[in-house]
Amino acid sequence: MTRREAMKGLLAAGATAATVSTLTAACATSDIVVDDASAPPRLSFAEIPRMLDGNHHVAAGYNAEVLLSWGDPVLPGGRAFDAAAQTAAAQSRQFGYNNDFLAYFPLPAGKRSGSEEDQHGLLCVNHEYTNAYLMFPGYSNWRDSAAGINREQVDIEMAAHGHSVIEVRKQNGHWSFVENSRFNRRITMDTPMRMSGPAAGHQRLRTSADPGGTRVLGTMGNCAGGVTPWGTVLIAEENFRYNFGGHPEELAESHPREVRNYARFRFGNHERRQWYRFHERFHIANEAHEANRFGWMVEFDPYDPQSEPVKHTALGRCQHEGCSVVAEEGRPLVAYTGDDGINEYIYKFVSNGTYRKDKGKRNSALFDDGILYAARFNDDGTGRWLPLIFGQGPLTPENGFNDQGDVLIDCRIAADLLGATPMDRPEDIDTNPLTGRTYVMLTKNTVRERTDAVNPRQKNAWGQVVEILAPGADGQRDHAALEFGWDIFILAGDPGKDSTARGQYGAGTSDDGWFCNPDNIAFDPFGRIWMATDSSNQCGFHDGLWAAQTAGPERALSRHFFGCPRGAELCGPCFTPDGKTLFVAIQHPADEKGSTYLNPSTRWPDFNDSVPPRPSVVAITRADGKVIGS
Ligand code: FEO
Ligand code: CA
Ligand code: CA
Repeated sequence: MTRREAMKGLLAAGATAATVSTLTAACATSDIVVDDASAPPRLSFAEIPRMLDGNHHVAAGYNAEVLLSWGDPVLPGGRAFDAAAQTAAAQSRQFGYNNDFLAYFPLPAGKRSGSEEDQHGLLCVNHEYTNAYLMFPGYSNWRDSAAGINREQVDIEMAAHGHSVIEVRKQNGHWSFVENSRFNRRITMDTPMRMSGPAAGHQRLRTSADPGGTRVLGTMGNCAGGVTPWGTVLIAEENFRYNFGGHPEELAESHPREVRNYARFRFGNHERRQWYRFHERFHIANEAHEANRFGWMVEFDPYDPQSEPVKHTALGRCQHEGCSVVAEEGRPLVAYTGDDGINEYIYKFVSNGTYRKDKGKRNSALFDDGILYAARFNDDGTGRWLPLIFGQGPLTPENGFNDQGDVLIDCRIAADLLGATPMDRPEDIDTNPLTGRTYVMLTKNTVRERTDAVNPRQKNAWGQVVEILAPGADGQRDHAALEFGWDIFILAGDPGKDSTARGQYGAGTSDDGWFCNPDNIAFDPFGRIWMATDSSNQCGFHDGLWAAQTAGPERALSRHFFGCPRGAELCGPCFTPDGKTLFVAIQHPADEKGSTYLNPSTRWPDFNDSVPPRPSVVAITRADGKVIGS
């Protein structure tokens, strides 16, 4: 039996009659309704060439306008951006640095697609991390800024992390933000939040400032994310290790069980941000459990600026990249997440309770009670979700697990023991709202030696896009099932190469249509996939956005739509519900070797000698006002 035949057999056997009533894509709001899912419009835009320069580029006939930039004042009392006189107090009232995930929520709350809400909404924006040598003068690279950074600069960094909620509006064809809207919010390293789920209150989450282990200040490393159909945002905590100091071995006597934990995250190798020199909680030898309170999936309500963010421990602790929520009436809630690290795993959470639309925000409690699984991919195109349950299989005291809290805090180690499949760095993950097929962006793995069918290339510098197929037909897939099928949707890289570097795409992909290093992902309202890249410069051109159909004769025929200014990656692609605006986040412009605050490789987007390059959100619309892409 071929791999594809095996997969088809599995899917047929597992088919269910479930009806998908509500699926949410990473940035869709809810209930996308398109009558004819079988025939999405053709992607007909004229491709842009692959290039590398200081500006952004979009397909002909489209406008791409900067909407929000690092330092824009967004809260009452916010000060106009002045990089030379920046303070932490000013930053806490301004748009943060390195915008990543974007989600759009219509205003007023609860309005549906197809009317005025497409002109007015809330834009939710993650601020993943800070590049000190591009934010402050006098540093030439990471090492330099780590050695010289001062207290005020560290506090600016902490205020530039986290998240922004910003009211946005389209008038006369142009998007702008509402400067002092009552909805506008900054979430930073000072924002109080709550732990929930099986690990909340766990002994290993208790600190001197929080002896109960349920309250934590701030969220960091907020990379991609997801949305729920009850109108909340999920923001992922990814590279938290970079913000902590100390080496695991320092805990050998005082907290021996944390040595394995922090070594698994490679603490001690990447003290990029030196926060611990000014704030003791960020040194693991001073506060051994603080770093256990990061690496979670965080949910909050963007419509309520006072709402308290919640860290959902049942989804496990790792370097969460994003989250794809599948909510079907009367069925368990399912959330797919990837752990972005070399040879890390893909996870899925399945709630014990069932989703009921009429319960609204009370559905959030479903995230507190359920089973976390890690994925094992078989070479025959099938796969299995392996449950991470304390007391089952190897997850016992003999292997260092005393309760479910331990399993969730150390979920990477638990997944190691269960035999999950080490992947080529799982970045964003998203489920096509029309078909229920789930797509994972595997960005690269240059140290891979042993290959398998789903990670088929040694020293993989280019990445691949993998399709996960829950059992059932399109639109009727059983996301709670223990089995799945899978396929490689795209092998990234140059299709003209005659070596392991060779990429594979749908027939007809042009010389501009191939890409390297897939990272972020979105679906438009017609179920077409939009793939963003990070690190294409190693292939000789800019990062950007490529679009493709996921079914039909043009499946995986990739087309180049948008290119970033040099040094930047493209994050957070997000459509308004009518598909007529596409928001993108341009992260870390000018971040490349030799580029500094005083001498950046581009001063995008201001091109003003007194303003450093600024990470910014760009709003893309079509000059003729029609739907993006077709
Ligand atoms: Fe934050 Fe994995 O990119
Ligand atoms: Ca990412
Ligand atoms: Ca990235």
